[in-house]
Amino acid sequence: MKKNNYKNILGIETSCDDTAIGIVTSEKSILSNIVINQNSNLNKYGGIVPEIAARDHLSNIDYAIQAALDKAKLELNDIDLITATGGPGLIGGVIVGTVFAKSLAMSLDRPYVAVNHLEGHALTARLTDNVKYPYLLLLVSGGHTQIIAVLEYGKYVRMSSTLDDAAGETFDKAAKILDIGFPGGPMIEKMAVDGDPKSFDLPKPMYKSKNPNFSFSGLKTAFNQTVSRNKLNKTITKNLCASIQKSISDCLVDRTKFAISKFTKMINNKSNVQLVVAGGVASNLYIRKELKKLSLEANAIFFAPPLDLCTDNGAMIAWAGYEKYNHEGETNLDFKPRPRWPLDPEAHYMNPVQPKIGKSGVKA
Ligand code: KG4
Ligand code: ZN
Repeated sequence: MKKNNYKNILGIETSCDDTAIGIVTSEKSILSNIVINQNSNLNKYGGIVPEIAARDHLSNIDYAIQAALDKAKLELNDIDLITATGGPGLIGGVIVGTVFAKSLAMSLDRPYVAVNHLEGHALTARLTDNVKYPYLLLLVSGGHTQIIAVLEYGKYVRMSSTLDDAAGETFDKAAKILDIGFPGGPMIEKMAVDGDPKSFDLPKPMYKSKNPNFSFSGLKTAFNQTVSRNKLNKTITKNLCASIQKSISDCLVDRTKFAISKFTKMINNKSNVQLVVAGGVASNLYIRKELKKLSLEANAIFFAPPLDLCTDNGAMIAWAGYEKYNHEGETNLDFKPRPRWPLDPEAHYMNPVQPKIGKSGVKA
């Protein structure tokens, strides 16, 4: 079969708590994008329990695939390429998606592609906004906070990374401290709308630092201490939410500004920098607005995918899988799911705290 004949691509995403199935076409139409989240289950525990998440993927995946096919008005036989997140992520969930995808590929006699979850986020704006290479990517999710120069397919240069916690994790932890639910980001954003961001003076780790990286663990600790010094009521909670959202946003904007100037040199000032934001935290409207402001100041062109394509979804996996297939062909069926899978092989050198690869090294 010829590589470029494929039309309908199925994407399976099970690396965290959402069972997500998307179907996209090679012409960039999103035919369906089904997400079954486990929030009600996870609210009971205040976070993700990997074993429960994996079992839930197993119960949801059949239904989610059928729902995606129905929405797209397709049958399984109409699918030309099967893609699934092969890592990084919670290994139980990644195994469920990978085994399911391989079985489908074998039974339908279609090629299978194992997709790096981060590449899914990284290439989303190419699906939704037709962004051309090269661009600067701010990837902000529950597990990752990175700035990456996306030079062309498969050529990713990490410019900045978190030394400890991710931005999304900080939102989640803050919501947990305030006991306002899970996932924390959307809850904090909602409460912050009527809050005063200047009411609490929270730290902004690495702000204006010459070291390009992020750090959020100190902010988490400071937030915890601030909360414990206050008697919570609705107004104080809203003010705390607005304050931590502003601190996180200011750090993201500051590090991105630093990266834009370096990236401009990297591409030899040839054109305006294209700035793309991706990952769950990119669905935060306050942060999008601040990044847009920065882009205007820095003469950058700003792209932010639609909100439902920022958080984990199957369409992004299908699209990244299609690009990967066009460059590298299909993945061997002996592919092993990977809990850690950095986008850039040099990633570990960026992180002085975790300079090793492997079990004790950087996750991604
Ligand atoms: O990309 P994603 O769906 O999953 C991972 O790959 O981690 O990101 C999930 C993260 C969670 O930490 C969640 O709290 C955060 O994205 N998030 C938000 C918002 N929506 C999701 N953070 C801030 N504001 C939001 N509106
Ligand atoms: Zn993600």
